[in-house]
Amino acid sequence: MSVILAIESSCDDTSVAICNNGKITANVIANQTIHENYGGVIPELASRVHQQNIVPTVEQALKNAKVTKQDINAVAFTRGPGLLGSLLVGVSFAKSFALALNIPLISVNHMHAHILAHFIDDPKPNFPFLCLTVSGGHTQIVLVKDYFDMEIVGETLDDAAGEAFDKTAKILQLPYPGGPLIDKHAQMGNPKAFKFAEPQIAELNFSFSGFKTSILYFIRKQEKENPNFIAENLNDICASVQHSIVQILLNKFKKAAKQYHIKEIAIAGGVSANSGLRKGLQEAADELGWKIYIPAFQYCTDNAGMIAIAGYQKFLAKDFAGQEVSPMARMEF
Ligand code: KG4
Ligand code: ZN
Repeated sequence: MSVILAIESSCDDTSVAICNNGKITANVIANQTIHENYGGVIPELASRVHQQNIVPTVEQALKNAKVTKQDINAVAFTRGPGLLGSLLVGVSFAKSFALALNIPLISVNHMHAHILAHFIDDPKPNFPFLCLTVSGGHTQIVLVKDYFDMEIVGETLDDAAGEAFDKTAKILQLPYPGGPLIDKHAQMGNPKAFKFAEPQIAELNFSFSGFKTSILYFIRKQEKENPNFIAENLNDICASVQHSIVQILLNKFKKAAKQYHIKEIAIAGGVSANSGLRKGLQEAADELGWKIYIPAFQYCTDNAGMIAIAGYQKFLAKDFAGQEVSPMARMEF
């Protein structure tokens, strides 16, 4: 029997989940809206808001899961990677909670957890599988051999796919985070309206910084001829940018699947909520005979449910952390 409380505070959302014998019975997320005014996450503000949100979010999760503090057998938390000030709030809270209740602590790597989110609901992927983890901070193709036996086989050399979405949105004067808004406009536009060159990067790696710059120059050039270019073409620009990003991701992912002879295919991270990526993945699956796995929306973006399920696997393996554990902004995979 196990009831695990999990804390996620790596970036701007405070999230708390409960995992009761392998089932997620609460997954509460307190979003921070303050960053919208700045066009990106401000680390100092994020940590302060985590401080305000953490206790009420824990209370809400306990209430939703219909358990009390005394029912909790272990506390899982995100150790990294992420913003140090944000991580510190979650790690310190988890340590105090475990100390007060005299229960074990479980340290979880945020990037492992995005992948292990596939083990929350059915159908669950079979090992080995390939996972494309695409978020605001990471773009990785991971060969997953077991719960904690994973190897990065390709990754971005600069910006993440989520950043490519968010920075394009900023160029288009859309509020932060722009990914979901680009997706929304893209669904009403023509993906072939404008063409952006695919970066030529070796092996299974990605690069998005040049891509973002090419969009910036394209928009500047068009605006010289027509100052209303963005407003008049917003849906088509979003659809074309989204189509290009999805093609860049899928072309490398197809290459990886072929190279490793794997047809069990998964996506994880915030960008896996993207409708164009989901559609493109389905088309690739139909064409190549892949079996695809996409977590429920609430487990794609940052959430403590994924920390809880990763914590559950570590709990079963009795893989606990000591009270000396500290956050790691640049935690190794
Ligand atoms: O995994 P996540 O919640 O946080 C990080 O660990 O980064 O991912 C957030 C990223 C942001 O860049 C956001 O714009 C992007 O995921 N995102 C999307 C969509 N929903 C979230 N990007 C494109 N289309 C979406 N529908
Ligand atoms: Zn994330």
